[in-house]
Amino acid sequence: MAGKRRIVVTSALPYANGDIHIGHLVEYIQTDIWVRFQKLRGNECVYVCADDTHGTPIMVRSRKEGLAPEAIIERSHAEHVRDFSAFQIAFDNYYTTNSPENKELSEKIFKAMEASGAITVKSTAQLYCEKCKMFLPDRFVKGECPKCGATGQYGDSCDHCGSTYGAEELVRPVCTTCGETPVVRETEHLYFELEPQHDALKAWIPGHTTADVSNKLLEWFDEPLRPWCISRDAPYFGFEIPGHPGKFFYVWVDAPIGYIASLANLGKFDMWNDPGVELYHFIGKDIIRFHCLFWPGMLNVAGFKGPDKVFVHGFLTVNGEKMSKSKGTFINARTYLDHLPADALRYYYAAKIGGTTDDMDLNLEDFVQRVNSDLVGKITNIASRSSQMLHKRLEGRLGRLDEKGLALVATCRDAADKIAKLYEERKFNQAVVEICRLADVTNAYFDEVQPWKLVKTDPEAARVALTGALNAFRLIAIYLKPILPVYADKAMALFGETAWTWDSLQETVEGKALAPYEYLASRIETAQVEAMIASALVKPGDSGEVSHESRASKNKSAAPSPAPATAAPLKSEIAFTDFEKLDLRVGVVENCEIVPKSSKLLKFTLDAGALGKRTIFSGIRGAYPDPAALVGKEVVFVANLAPRKMSVGVSEGMILFAGEPGVCGGAVTALASAGGGTVVS
Ligand code: MSP
Ligand code: ZN
Repeated sequence: MAGKRRIVVTSALPYANGDIHIGHLVEYIQTDIWVRFQKLRGNECVYVCADDTHGTPIMVRSRKEGLAPEAIIERSHAEHVRDFSAFQIAFDNYYTTNSPENKELSEKIFKAMEASGAITVKSTAQLYCEKCKMFLPDRFVKGECPKCGATGQYGDSCDHCGSTYGAEELVRPVCTTCGETPVVRETEHLYFELEPQHDALKAWIPGHTTADVSNKLLEWFDEPLRPWCISRDAPYFGFEIPGHPGKFFYVWVDAPIGYIASLANLGKFDMWNDPGVELYHFIGKDIIRFHCLFWPGMLNVAGFKGPDKVFVHGFLTVNGEKMSKSKGTFINARTYLDHLPADALRYYYAAKIGGTTDDMDLNLEDFVQRVNSDLVGKITNIASRSSQMLHKRLEGRLGRLDEKGLALVATCRDAADKIAKLYEERKFNQAVVEICRLADVTNAYFDEVQPWKLVKTDPEAARVALTGALNAFRLIAIYLKPILPVYADKAMALFGETAWTWDSLQETVEGKALAPYEYLASRIETAQVEAMIASALVKPGDSGEVSHESRASKNKSAAPSPAPATAAPLKSEIAFTDFEKLDLRVGVVENCEIVPKSSKLLKFTLDAGALGKRTIFSGIRGAYPDPAALVGKEVVFVANLAPRKMSVGVSEGMILFAGEPGVCGGAVTALASAGGGTVVS
C-alpha cells in the first residue's frame, strides 16, 4: 500500500432549525462510509461537521417559542448527535457554528477579504416589517407575482410563471410572520466582489468537481460574476461584522467557515492549510454555488487553502417521488429508528450510492427485498449457518483450509483491489455488487461441499468445509466494515480478533475456537415499513391541529350537550398566511354511513367534482343519528389536510360543521354536538 495519506473530510452542516431526516442521511451515511474506508486502509482521516445555527429561521422560532436561540440550537444539537450516532455516523468532531472559534475565524477571514479590496458597500431598497421590526428575507414575504399576477408567491421567484424578481417588486406584499404589509426601506449592505476572480475560479472549477457539476457551473462564467451580498441587518442571530455595527454575517458566510472551526476545536487547525493534507467536502446538489464559487473565492482572497475536491450527490426520492409529508415519506431519522434497524438503511443506501449527482431512489419494496435477500439471505446466512453448525456439532473449533477452501479464500481476496478502488471512487453500489458476488461464490461452495451431510459421516471433513466458508465470510465482513461497522465488529468478535484493517484481508483463521455466534442482522418486514409510513403520516399536535378523534373523545357522550354559558377560549391568533394554507372546497355528500363499533364516527363519501371522490371520517354521529339525511347535501371541507390513518380507515380531509347550534361564538368543528347547524347549503 502507498504511504499513509492525511485527509480532512466534511459533510454539509445541517441546519439547527430542523430534524435530521432520511434525505440528509444520504449524505452523512455516504461520507461516513468513505471516511471509514480511509481509516480501514490505515490513512489518517479526520471527519468534521457541525450544526449550522445562524440565520433568520432560528431567530423567528426563538421569538415564537419565547426561548433564547442558544437554547433552541442546544436542543437540536443534542438531537442531531443522538440521531447521527444511532446511524453509526462517526464524526471526529460534531461542533456548532455558534462557537468562539468560528467567530474568530469569520472575523479573520472577513478582514482579510476587506483588506484585499474584495468587499464593497451598496445601498439597496428592501422590504421591512414594522410590526416584526425586521427586514424581510425573500422567503419571509409573499405577494402577487409582478409578471403574471399569481398570488401567494415568495419574494424571489414565481412558482407559477418562473420569473425571478426582487421582493420589493411583489404586488400587495405581506409579511409571512405577522401578515402585515411591509414598507420599503433603504439599507446598506456589504458585497463580496467575485468578478475579479472570474478567471481564477473558472480555471479552478474543472479540477475540483466532477464533470457534470463543473459543466453546469461554467455556464455562469459567460457573464460577469455578480457580487454576493454577505450582510444582514439586525436583528439577526449570527456574528456581527467587525467594523460594521448593526450588520451581521449572512449565515452562508460563517457556515462553511464552521468546517475550519470544527477542525480547530479538535486541535487540528493546522491540517487545513497543510499542502500535504487532502481536503474534501461532501455536499448535495442544492448547495453547489456556495461550495464551488463563493467558498473557494473567499478562501482564496483570505489566503486559505481550498478543498481538493467537492463531491456532489443527488437528492433522495422515496418510491420515485420527492419526500412528502402527506404521503408519509418525509421520514425523520428518529421515526425510521422507531421501526427499523440502522444497518438496513446503511446497507441499502450503499447499494444505491454511485458517486454521481443523479437523484437516488429509496423504493420501499425493493428496500425490504434487498436487505432480506442479500444482506440477510446471502451474506449473513453464511456466518449463521456455518458457525452454528460448528458450535453444535464440532465444539466450535475451526479446522484447516483444504485446497477448495484456499481457492475460495483466494477468490475473495483477489477482489480487494477492485473493491478498494470502488470505495475510493465512491461507487459504493458497485462495491456492494462485488461483495454480493463473493457471497454467491461462497454459497455455491457451501452447497457443493455440503457440510450438513458431511457432519454425519465425516465430522473432520465438515470442519474443514466450514472453515472455508467462515474464512470467506470473514473477508466479506471486512469488505463490509465501512458500510456496516457494528455488524463487522460483531463478526470480528466471532473470530476472536480485536482490530481489523485492510491488511487483515491477507490473514486466515485456522484451528481456533470461535466465540459464540452473536446475531448480526435479521429480516425486515413490510409491516415495519408500513408502520413507519403511518407514523410519519400521523403527527398529532405537530401543526397544532386537533384530530377528529381527539376532539370527539373530549365530548365522550354522544348525547347533545347543553349550550355553553361562555364561549370556549380562542386559540392563539394566526397570521393570514396560516389561514391561506387551508384549501377549502365544496363537496356533495354522495354517501354517509354509520361506522360499526364506533359510537361517534360517520363515514362520508364526498363527490368533490374535479378533485374526485373523498372518504372522510367525522365524529358527528351524536348530532346526526340518521346519516342518510345528509346524502345530497353540499358541505365545505378542508381539501389539503394530510390524509390521516385512523383505526377504521384513512380520512382524506375534514368536513366543517358548526359546533354549538344557536350559540354565536360556538366553534366550527368536525364535531357538531347537537342536531343540525351544519355549514351546509
Ligand atoms: N446548512 C446548509 C449547509 C451549510 S454547509 C456549510 C444546508 N443544510 S441542510 O440541512 O439543508 O442540508 C444539509 C445537507 O443535506 C446538504 O448537503 C443537502 O444537500 C443534504 N440534503 C438535504 N436534503 C436532502 C435530500 N432530500 N436528499 C439528499 N440530500 C439532501 O444546506
Ligand atoms: Zn411581520
